[in-house]
Amino acid sequence: MKFVKTALYAAVMAATVMGSSAMLNSAYAGDIQDKIIVAHRGASAYLPEHTLESKALAYNMGVAYLEQDLAMTKDNRLVVVHDHFLDRVTDVADKFPKRARKDGRYYVIDFTLDEIKTLNFTEGFEIVNGKRVQGYKNRFPMFTSVFKIHTLEEEIEFIQGLNKTMGKDIGLYVETKAPWFHKQEGKDISKATLEVLKKYGYTSKDSNVIFQTFDYPDLKYVKTELMPKMGIDLKTVVLLAENSWNETYELKDGKWVPYDFDYLMDPKNMKEVAKYATGMGPSLDMVIDGKKSKKGAIVVTDLVKNAHANGMMVHPYTIRADKLPAYCNNVDELFKAILIDADSDGVFTDFPDLGSAFLQKNGKK
Ligand code: G3P
Ligand code: CA
Repeated sequence: MKFVKTALYAAVMAATVMGSSAMLNSAYAGDIQDKIIVAHRGASAYLPEHTLESKALAYNMGVAYLEQDLAMTKDNRLVVVHDHFLDRVTDVADKFPKRARKDGRYYVIDFTLDEIKTLNFTEGFEIVNGKRVQGYKNRFPMFTSVFKIHTLEEEIEFIQGLNKTMGKDIGLYVETKAPWFHKQEGKDISKATLEVLKKYGYTSKDSNVIFQTFDYPDLKYVKTELMPKMGIDLKTVVLLAENSWNETYELKDGKWVPYDFDYLMDPKNMKEVAKYATGMGPSLDMVIDGKKSKKGAIVVTDLVKNAHANGMMVHPYTIRADKLPAYCNNVDELFKAILIDADSDGVFTDFPDLGSAFLQKNGKK
């Protein structure tokens, strides 16, 4: 697998990919053998997200990477959980009813690892009219069986153990969740993450790990200060969000203000961005124009072309067979739109088995 595109590749890509908003383009430039599937929060369509069970299932589904979203506990441990809150995926409100903040949320950072280990981890839900309603109705039943939150160390040992017993080399795809929030709380989640990765042997761009974050200012700090100080240099991906999501904040003139993601999507800035990011992680909508695309007529944006022209790989998020955009009849059409028409290098999916099957059907060995 190639992760860092060469200058020659970038030149070929720039010359090959069709121009602005290209209509359905099956003649893709990237080699199918190099395209990869990332297990989004494990095989999260089949087992509760981020459980070790979900990672074990995904491990054997032909993926290149298993994803870890990370938050920090009160006692400075890294736990694998998507939100920096506990209330969407655990019974924290039952076990610690008085520990919510004023906004009603239960923050990972307010609990010790021992406390978090007492919680039951479950398929995600939201509260509707005072009742828990499962987010994806056809997924694993809420609060059935027994699942627990685990640390980054535990997941690395799990994956490295499986790599040994299964004779494979599946990578980590770690995301520091809300570094800006952790900074506000006096914690450096990126430093803590890199320390764990270094301890387990992930130290160079050849290491089988990708460090991803939505927090571009923090990524610059990681690449220019933290990694050099620690004597490591890992592959990195900058994640792209819509400004309306308020995904990341940055400190400007002593004030925390929402980060403007338009900067990262502007092709004029991509050469600069590529100094810090090996790749980009856009949403599906940033790669396929959902307003202009119709069934059988996919309209691709310029984002992948622009990223490739600046030497960055692209791994969009997230393909879900149970939440297809209107322009697709089935999940294979969406994998084709993202991996072939748009020529992304890989994709995050809750259905890693379907992603791997798609690649195989299209010639991947
Ligand atoms: O990290 C890629 C993708 O997972 C980003 O979305 O919100 O699922 O972390 P999210
Ligand atoms: Ca993620």
